[in-house]
This record gives sequence, structure tokens and C-alpha cells, in this order.
Amino acid sequence: MTIEQQKIDKIFRLTNREVWVVTAGTPQRRGGLLATWILQASLDRESPVLMAGIAPNHFTRQLIDETGAFATHLLHQNQVDLALKFALGSGRSVDKLAGLRVSETETGCPLLKDALCWLDCRVFARLDTGDRIFFWADVVAGDQQGKSPPLTEQELLQHVDGEIRNQLIADRQHDIEKQKPQHNEWRQNLPALLRPA
Ligand SMILES: Cc1cc2nc3c(=O)[nH]c(=O)nc-3n(C[C@H](O)[C@H](O)[C@H](O)COP(=O)(O)O)c2cc1C
Repeated sequence: MTIEQQKIDKIFRLTNREVWVVTAGTPQRRGGLLATWILQASLDRESPVLMAGIAPNHFTRQLIDETGAFATHLLHQNQVDLALKFALGSGRSVDKLAGLRVSETETGCPLLKDALCWLDCRVFARLDTGDRIFFWADVVAGDQQGKSPPLTEQELLQHVDGEIRNQLIADRQHDIEKQKPQHNEWRQNLPALLRPA
């Protein structure tokens, strides 16, 4: 990274985002990942909308596209191991929900019963930018079982050992390299609708 890029990165690191577990699928074919790219995207509190940015190569992205729905969960601060379960590896080779207390949301998504809270989301729009698929979703239900602050990215990283930290960094680098060509192509051929005025 250049000095300027390091300065910019340091500013981004001043933020401390919550980590969400995004689950999707059916009881027979299910999965989930850890995500920071989750935003409340509605002004009107009577029509709650959530936006999620999910990498196209992730198994959870595939499940969201197959079902048109996902659930998002915030975690208790002592659920670092649970967060890591969803951040490492791919649901294509392992059932990340095995052994967890799971039920089903109204949209049919796996619901983590021991999370701090959850939101059930039905997708109504999708944008593929090459390195991310952005989903807009109506939040159709939600519940909370605790008032403690949710686990954040910085707390998570403080609690992981060097080996796991290196694995997370390597995974992120792998995702960046894998998606870069598609993202560059998307930028060079932006649909008219998305070009700046
Ligand atoms: C702190 C943190 C934040 C992450 N945020 C996102 C995210 O917003 N979107 C995403 O697609 N992946 C994100 N990831 C990566 C996925 O959680 C990870 O690659 C996961 O293992 C993918 O699982 P899957 O292939 O089973 O869906 C994040 C990872 C970490 C450690």
C-alpha cells in the first residue's frame, strides 16, 4: 500500500462495525457467513429495508439467490467462536449450522436461536457489481433476546489468535483477487442507469 492508501485505511479502521451472521437456505441445504456489509436502508420505519453486500463466490450468496430470502443475526459479545464458525471455510464443504440451536423464519431461513437478535428478510432487488452482489430486502420480522451491545469487528479481531487472524486476512485477499477482474469490467461498462450525472 502507498502512504496515501495507508492513511485512508487507517481512517476506515476508526470505525467499529457490528458483525452479522447472515443465514440462508432450507433445512436440507443451508449455510451462512459473517458480514459487516449490512445496512439499514430505509427512511420509513414502517417499511423497514435492509441492504446486504455479499461476495458472489460465497455459498451463502448462492443460497440467497436460490430462495430469495436471508436472515441476519447480531451476536452476544461472548460469541466469538460462533462468529468464527461462519467466517471461516465454505458452506459448500461443511454444514456450518450443525450442532447449533436452529429454527426456521417465516421466509424459510435458518434462525440461530442463541443469537442476540435476528431479522428475517425477503429480497426485492439485486445489483451485481462484480465483486459484490447487493441485495435490498424487506424486513418482515425480527426479535431480540437481550439488551447487551452486539459483538463488533474490532472485538472479534482482538480475541482471535495469530493463526486465525492470518487465515482471515488470506481469505479476504483471495476474495479480492478473485473478484477484481469482474469488478473492473463492471466499472468500465456501467449501465446508463448507474452513470454519474
Ligand atoms: C469481519 C468479517 C466481515 C466479513 N464481511 C463480509 C461481508 O460483508 N460480505 C461477504 O460476502 N463476506 C464477508 N466476510 C467473509 C465471509 O464471512 C467468509 O468468506 C465466509 O466463510 C463465506 O462463507 P460461505 O462461502 O459459506 O457463504 C467477512 C469476514 C469477516 C471475518
